[in-house]
Amino acid sequence: MDIFKIEGPTRLCGSVTVNGSKNATLPIMAATILAGGKSVLKSVPHLSDISIFGQLLCELGCKVRRGDNGDLCIDSTVIDNPVGDYEIVRRMRASICILGPLLARCGRTRVSMPGGCAIGDRPVDIHLRGLRELGAKIYLENGYIVAEANGGLRGKEIFLGGSFGSTVLGTANVLMAAVLAKGKTIIESAACEPEIADLANCLNAMGARISGIGSPRLTIEGVEELHPIEYRVIPDRIEAGTFMVAAAITKGQLHINNCRLDDMMAVVDKLRSIGVTIDRADGGCVVAGAGPIGTGHITTQPYPGFPTDLQAQFTALLALGSGNSVVIEKIFPDRFMHVAELNRMAADLRKEGPAVIVAGVKKLIAAPVMASDLRASAALVLAGMAAEGTTIVSRVYHIDRGYEKIEERLNPLGAKIIRENI
Ligand code: EPU
Repeated sequence: MDIFKIEGPTRLCGSVTVNGSKNATLPIMAATILAGGKSVLKSVPHLSDISIFGQLLCELGCKVRRGDNGDLCIDSTVIDNPVGDYEIVRRMRASICILGPLLARCGRTRVSMPGGCAIGDRPVDIHLRGLRELGAKIYLENGYIVAEANGGLRGKEIFLGGSFGSTVLGTANVLMAAVLAKGKTIIESAACEPEIADLANCLNAMGARISGIGSPRLTIEGVEELHPIEYRVIPDRIEAGTFMVAAAITKGQLHINNCRLDDMMAVVDKLRSIGVTIDRADGGCVVAGAGPIGTGHITTQPYPGFPTDLQAQFTALLALGSGNSVVIEKIFPDRFMHVAELNRMAADLRKEGPAVIVAGVKKLIAAPVMASDLRASAALVLAGMAAEGTTIVSRVYHIDRGYEKIEERLNPLGAKIIRENI
């Protein structure tokens, strides 16, 4: 098992380039199922989640390989085993987004029902409700979701909201099924996240007819078939936001390339109100955190609100703020595994239901801490770079799921992170 030894405090300075988005790539990989043939995806990060998803596609019958230039090539000519096996789905919940495309392409599929994970229960009831509305028969059998559409899928007006708002992968699943359904589908309360817009743009490039992209009302005119594509995925706004916090928490200055600030206005607004300077620059932005870290009130919301995937990193930042802050989690009310670990580093955080009261401290002090999920582990790395002493983060495989070689990208900027296999 790999651990990180992080020596702090350090000040990050220099230029860093954001990779393609993990959460845009995964549903787009699933979308290649819809069109038999060879697709090429560009700007796909080298992450364990991407490899696992590739493995899943291979089990369905696809051929997946990395080209010499790093492109991800998926040949979906043959799909002869439309099954999402428990062994893969339990390792990665995002596997659920093969359900819609497999149903549309094969007319029948079995996908293991995902369980909970470190950030909460994470039900898929809305995915299933949406697919049923399109005419699928869905039932549970031995822990597997069985979906059948023997008479074909039919377009419908569907309200896809739930008690926590829209669902990202639920929208992806229903959208991918609807593009090949007969007639017109309207998805109301669709997720507006840039990753869903990217999926919809990719589907249109494959021949789908989707309008309203980026809005909560998607209109889909079903088509007979799609064709394979070459497509470049958008930059990862969560990785960009993590680098922004890295600049702020180390009182450094980073030029962040390949970053779409327009996708990140809630994040930019929050950082500015905390006292961080963010200026647009060629292809990205320059982020400087020279002054004291202020205080802030953050509530996570569906896009364009503040993203839950940056909640942990901002909590680490506010832990060093000049006073009291409040962080409220409205997407995953249990996503606070980082709180106890940050407190081991002398932060003063108190969890109150789905919120954390943050009393800013003057400094964080290194400690051995344990990563529990992807974003929580990013928060611990950020805290480690700002804390006094050597922080040891164990279970860094969590961070490898979503950040490509993070230490090799932070060290040239001034971080002192050593990966050790113990
Ligand atoms: N929900 C339901 N029923 C459903 C689906 C969702 O009640 O059928 C609830 C969830 O429990 C949650 C809320 O709706 O309270 C939103 O969940 P959503 O479905 O949008 O999450 P997701 O699609 O499973 C994606 C990202 C997550 C990110 C969330 C929210 C991918 C692969 N995953 O998950 O990313 O936190 O959207 O933005 O795109 C991460 O990258 O670290 C990560 C966890």
